[in-house]
Amino acid sequence: MARILITSAIPYINGIKHLGNLVGSQLPADLYARYMRGRGHEVLFLCATDEHGTPAELAAAKAGKPVAEYCAEMWSVQKELSDGFRLSFDKFGRSSSPQNHALTQHFAGRLADAGLIEEVTEKQVYSNADGRFLPDRYIEGTCPNCGYDKARGDQCENCTKQLDPTDLIEPRSAVSGSTDLEVRETKHLYLKQRSLRGELSDWIDSKTDWPILTTSIAKKWLNDGDGLQDRGITRDLDWGIPVKKGDADWPGMEGKVFYVWFDAPIEYIACAKEWTDATGKPDADWERWWRTDKGADDVRYVQFMGKDNVPFHTLSFPATIIGSGEPWKLVDYIKSFNYLNYDGGQFSTSQGRGVFMDQALEILPADYWRWWLLSHAPENSDSEFTWENFQASVNKDLADVLGNFVSRVTKFCRSKFGEQVPSDGAWGDEENALIEKLQSGIAAYETQMEAIEVRKAANELRALWALGNEYLQGAAPWSVFKEDPERAAAQIRLALNLIRVYAVLSAPFIPDAAAKMLSSMNTLDTEWPGDVKSALTALPEGHAFTVPEVLFAKISDEEREDWQTKFAGVRT
Ligand code: 2FM
Ligand code: ZN
Repeated sequence: MARILITSAIPYINGIKHLGNLVGSQLPADLYARYMRGRGHEVLFLCATDEHGTPAELAAAKAGKPVAEYCAEMWSVQKELSDGFRLSFDKFGRSSSPQNHALTQHFAGRLADAGLIEEVTEKQVYSNADGRFLPDRYIEGTCPNCGYDKARGDQCENCTKQLDPTDLIEPRSAVSGSTDLEVRETKHLYLKQRSLRGELSDWIDSKTDWPILTTSIAKKWLNDGDGLQDRGITRDLDWGIPVKKGDADWPGMEGKVFYVWFDAPIEYIACAKEWTDATGKPDADWERWWRTDKGADDVRYVQFMGKDNVPFHTLSFPATIIGSGEPWKLVDYIKSFNYLNYDGGQFSTSQGRGVFMDQALEILPADYWRWWLLSHAPENSDSEFTWENFQASVNKDLADVLGNFVSRVTKFCRSKFGEQVPSDGAWGDEENALIEKLQSGIAAYETQMEAIEVRKAANELRALWALGNEYLQGAAPWSVFKEDPERAAAQIRLALNLIRVYAVLSAPFIPDAAAKMLSSMNTLDTEWPGDVKSALTALPEGHAFTVPEVLFAKISDEEREDWQTKFAGVRT
């Protein structure tokens, strides 16, 4: 039994995530966690909300709420949705937790002690009316390029030109609208990542098994242009983790907070402590996952994220860890994803374009979405959600293939033999041939799951489901029954057992349907079908079962058209 630590990129607190966000990290991480648990490994699966930074402050202001209150509410909303999608985190933490405050300040102190922090004085826009510095997004004005009058200090949304706050014509505070702005000097901390370049480069080079998407992004940032840059890790904001050196104050840094991208990945670690603190376990229980001096050298640590997050996880966070000089666990494998597009365009949170997690669950149960999203995960390139494709996949894979198999087998058995696994009869050539195919199909499925090739794993699973249908079609117990009921009994005995096997194999993708299949088979036996032949005798002769309700309803053309129209516009 191995120990596997799994983290998903932690979603920003500001707003409900869309399906593109979900398939880019949390959902495939859950697939992997469920699979590894199913194989009997010890798994710790962590996620949290990413609560600091200007987006959180601005969203709270828009909602007219104090930012702490806004974050607490949005955490609950996101938690409920992640439960709705059956994301099986051991802990869904918060980057604003006291645990993360302490740990982030601890790391900063260690980095300072190691001589890796530099204090830099720079010029920034200060608003006299607001009594605060204004980071880029807090300044608005007219774009010098296109004349758009709501351009932000970092970029014009209208013409996409990258801007500096000083480029804006008639700049004003986005907080108060005040134009009483001036440029003032302010001091910030920089992490001297450049001096860790050699170590980071060697470490990345040692990861020969990483996906190309991950390594190519890491190397680009490491080598392009001037190469790895030192990085500002503090901001002039109210909301965030106060800048401290461990427990001690940091002279000159009063009133400043750490930059959100400094504290967010540290939350991966702090989240584990949130987990043990919440359950009254000792620190040793989380440290054995994170400290290589306390048992974590046996852990395999796998991270999941969208491609935009890769630089932070291959360079910045490792720089924090390596720079601390302490024995923290470094990631072993980074699975990254391209983007999922929506119906001819992009999913967009700011524009409310696409389907969002809450809306998805309002129209269909989680398994429908999980199956489509995972079987179309944007691994080798961006992929696209269309309603036609969604309808076709659900109707074919889930309803016609898997659902239909379960329904036909259980109903036929009930009508001819009653609701129990029929006795009599023996398996013959057809059954042995099926067992052989299942055995090699399961091995292929395991290979893809272990490699975290999500789409390929979905294809293997679909092929396994299809084998059952093909067998049933060929064996035709409904005809055989008329001449040779004992033979039909043997066929159906196998098929009922195959339902249990399918439940176990499919649970990582479609956990609710798998649970229904197990409960209708009246069994708690979730043992992985290592040896197919014996797995197909787990439900003994005479074992009672019930016919389940329809596992997957088909999506009608009318429903599809309705949804297509409903989700064509923007969310308000
Ligand atoms: O892109 C995002 O959604 C970020 N909130 C991910 C942060 S991941 C980590 F570093 F914590
Ligand atoms: Zn512009």
